Amino acid sequence: MPQHTPTPAQWAALEQAARDAARRAYVPYSRFAVGAAILDAQGQIHPGCNVENASYGLANCAERTAIYSARVLHDLQEIVAVCVYTPTATPTSPCGACRQVLNEFGPGMLVRCICDGSERIDTTLDVLLPHAFGPKNLSDAASST
Ligand code: THU
Repeated sequence: MPQHTPTPAQWAALEQAARDAARRAYVPYSRFAVGAAILDAQGQIHPGCNVENASYGLANCAERTAIYSARVLHDLQEIVAVCVYTPTATPTSPCGACRQVLNEFGPGMLVRCICDGSERIDTTLDVLLPHAFGPKNLSDAASST
């Protein structure tokens, strides 16, 4: 059943999935492990971790790993919430590129960033990426010509 407000149990599961995913991070260059987990509109949770590369610029962030994996494995359509975990003292929010890729599947999604300290970030993607460019820009342009 489609849903848009995670239950406390879903938040807990999302947080745990992000923590677990960080253990799979491949980070021989930065040593900065990131785990992400996305909750889709069907209530399924999809994990991702960052995967770096010897040609540094090709590193793939945890959030994008989660999205691409969920799309090919489970036909991801809509993201309700994302949790990002880093084993750090303060939380890490999604980078600009990930904000844009997340926007494609849920411009209003909830964003939670957690760490090993007590601080956390609870926000929404439209706060992190105001005036976003997205699919609507393309469909609006196509229908006005
Ligand atoms: N990283 C993520 O996985 N997600 C973010 O949103 C921020 C950055 C990764 C990329 C790279 O592997 C490492 O963190 C250091 O930048």
